[in-house]
Amino acid sequence: MAPRPIIIDTDPGQDDAIAILLALASPELDVLGITAVAGNVPLALTEQNARKVCELAGRAETNVFAGCARPMLRPLVTAENVHGRTGLDGPDLPAPTMPLRDRHAVDWLVETLMAAPDGEITLCPIGPLTNIATAIVREPRILPKIREIVLMGGGFFEGGNTTPTAEFNIYVDPHAAHVVIDSGVKLTMMPLDVTHRALMRHDWIERIDRLGTPVGKAAAAMMSFYERFDMEKYGEAGGPLHDPCVIAYLLRPELFQGKDCNVVVETGSELTMGMTVVDWWDVTDRPANCRVMNRIDADGFFGLILERLGRL
Ligand code: BDR
Ligand code: CA
Repeated sequence: MAPRPIIIDTDPGQDDAIAILLALASPELDVLGITAVAGNVPLALTEQNARKVCELAGRAETNVFAGCARPMLRPLVTAENVHGRTGLDGPDLPAPTMPLRDRHAVDWLVETLMAAPDGEITLCPIGPLTNIATAIVREPRILPKIREIVLMGGGFFEGGNTTPTAEFNIYVDPHAAHVVIDSGVKLTMMPLDVTHRALMRHDWIERIDRLGTPVGKAAAAMMSFYERFDMEKYGEAGGPLHDPCVIAYLLRPELFQGKDCNVVVETGSELTMGMTVVDWWDVTDRPANCRVMNRIDADGFFGLILERLGRL
């Protein structure tokens, strides 16, 4: 079967980096490009980090584009407290030498989607949704070209990780999230309800380290760095490996369970800004617009990551 064409929209971020490595290691997927966005750290760092990760994977030919430097309406909020000053603290990766493509990510997204047949390309946003929403606003005719959007963001039963009610990616650009979730495109959401069940146990990090390869060593160093923050927050079981859930879902959907629901993003109240209001029990007349996942086979997930990272 021909590999599935995907675009990863990202703000690396250690867990973004593992997601990118997982995608690049997987022959079932054809990574058409990686579009960087401001999020965990400012854009100048996220685009560099994306290139560092491609070079680590031995895939310097990957198309990497820089996109939006700030959210649509609100000031940028970053997460150096989680990801470190560079966004990719942990391993000592060299400065990238592969080029950043000389196009704005939104221009490239629009042109690539417009040139594709209908229902062809899967979008995998694992950062704030600014680039994707801007592309939709700029050229709504891209919508039928999108096969599916599988995103990491939101949280419902689990609450928020940035405010009591909001998850980071949605909180940073709730207006962009509204545009994407309201777009009518087939949508699957990996919220904290799933990713907080994808905890990176210490023995898993050790097994990745024991791969003994540059990728294994770097991935283990990233996870160990990122873990130190999450262990304080979430306890002994280890921190959540959020973004790789998106790529794992494309590879092994049977690892996940969820339900079609209506989701609305809160953009009106400062108290609950960026909350993903999920009609899990179908108590409104609002039609389902999103498949909301809430369960993961964590052992299967980590087994997949270990096996794929071992290929790089
Ligand atoms: C999300 O926020 C970022 O810090 C992670 O990379 C992930 O995409 C989790 O809330
Ligand atoms: Ca991310």
